[in-house]
Amino acid sequence: MTPKPTGETTMATVDLVLPHHRYTVHIGPGLLSELGQRVRATAPHQRAALIVDDKIAGTHGPAAEASLQSAGYDPLVTTMTSGEDHKNLSTVEALYHKLLDERLERRSPVVALGGGIVGDTGGFVAASYLRGVPFVQCPTTLLAMVDASVGGKVGVNMPQGKNLIGAFHQPVLVVIDTDTLKTLSRRDFVCGLAECVKHGVIRDPELFDWIDANIQPILDLDPGTLVELVQRNVRIKAAVVMEDEKEAGVRAHLNFGHTFAHAIEAGTEYGRYLHGEAVSLGMVAAARLGVELGRCEGGLVDQLVALLNKIGLPTTTDGLPETDKLMDIMRSDKKVKAGRVRLILPDKLGAVSIVDDTPDDVVAKSWDSIRG
Ligand SMILES: NC(=O)c1ccc[n+]([C@@H]2O[C@H](COP(=O)([O-])OP(=O)(O)OC[C@H]3O[C@@H](n4cnc5c(N)ncnc54)[C@H](O)[C@@H]3O)[C@@H](O)[C@H]2O)c1
Repeated sequence: MTPKPTGETTMATVDLVLPHHRYTVHIGPGLLSELGQRVRATAPHQRAALIVDDKIAGTHGPAAEASLQSAGYDPLVTTMTSGEDHKNLSTVEALYHKLLDERLERRSPVVALGGGIVGDTGGFVAASYLRGVPFVQCPTTLLAMVDASVGGKVGVNMPQGKNLIGAFHQPVLVVIDTDTLKTLSRRDFVCGLAECVKHGVIRDPELFDWIDANIQPILDLDPGTLVELVQRNVRIKAAVVMEDEKEAGVRAHLNFGHTFAHAIEAGTEYGRYLHGEAVSLGMVAAARLGVELGRCEGGLVDQLVALLNKIGLPTTTDGLPETDKLMDIMRSDKKVKAGRVRLILPDKLGAVSIVDDTPDDVVAKSWDSIRG
């Protein structure tokens, strides 16, 4: 599927077909103006809730609200404070109160407009309000476009850890307006690219090479290139979710680099690195570990490091805590199986495996490989 030309611009769709549900991801510049009509075609009702990240309430909120109104909705528009600290049950409860006070009903769609924080939190509200209402994802960060908005994982954090409370609640529709990326900070945009590189490594060497060849138009936010970037990545995320909706098998491949990344984020109190930066370092550590175990060629690490550096993502750092602390955090990760750290390691570019039996001393060595 290549993006279809529509006049001067491009537009693409990706369909997800699951055993009990199907939905379409629409990708294109300016699509916020069509949000209302697309929601109406999927979840018709008089009311809708629009939950917006407060940082973009002034820039992108009005277009979404106007579009819902022009499609005949009387939307309840509410903001949620930006930031991982607000992805919690207090925010969820406050949102329940607003929806109940406005008497939103079982058929009223909940639309989340923002990054992964609003998507995960708004999605959890949609999954649980009145035992579940239609949910529409309208992601505005690259990470949320290529990853968080597709696949139905929704949830919030607890003091004990990230994403510990949640549900699988697939959206009925995903509307991606790639123009919203124009206001995203360069640092957040580049973090989304870490997940795109991840998709290339785990499943699609052609995507890996395409990112490498197109990095300048990507960083310049060329409209056609952005549509193709998002579409190629949504296709991969969708394929993985269609194979394994509830993460019983291959969906775990999406965690490539993430067990290391979670330890980096937790070990630095979530203050020093953004998620994508930690994923970048984590992918390098995991790839080096793969080489150390004789699972893949050293050339893969060289290719990976070269691309991440070209993008502007970190591949070494002087900011890591001690290896013992990182190893303790890794062992407490919810993906640990029977006391063994569970890792996704590359076999070659485009293929990874789940590995449960890596000796601790070898994992410890891979931490040293990313210290700069
Ligand atoms: N559900 C899933 O499958 C899944 C997958 C990956 C990540 N996640 C979750 O996603 C979250 C991270 O998502 P994120 O990286 O999008 O973070 P985020 O939602 O915090 O957004 C990053 C920053 O960009 C701002 N922002 C959002 N859109 C903007 C725009 N268009 N212009 C300007 N600023 C904008 C936000 O206010 C925030 O400051 C994490 O909580 C993670 O657990 C979920």
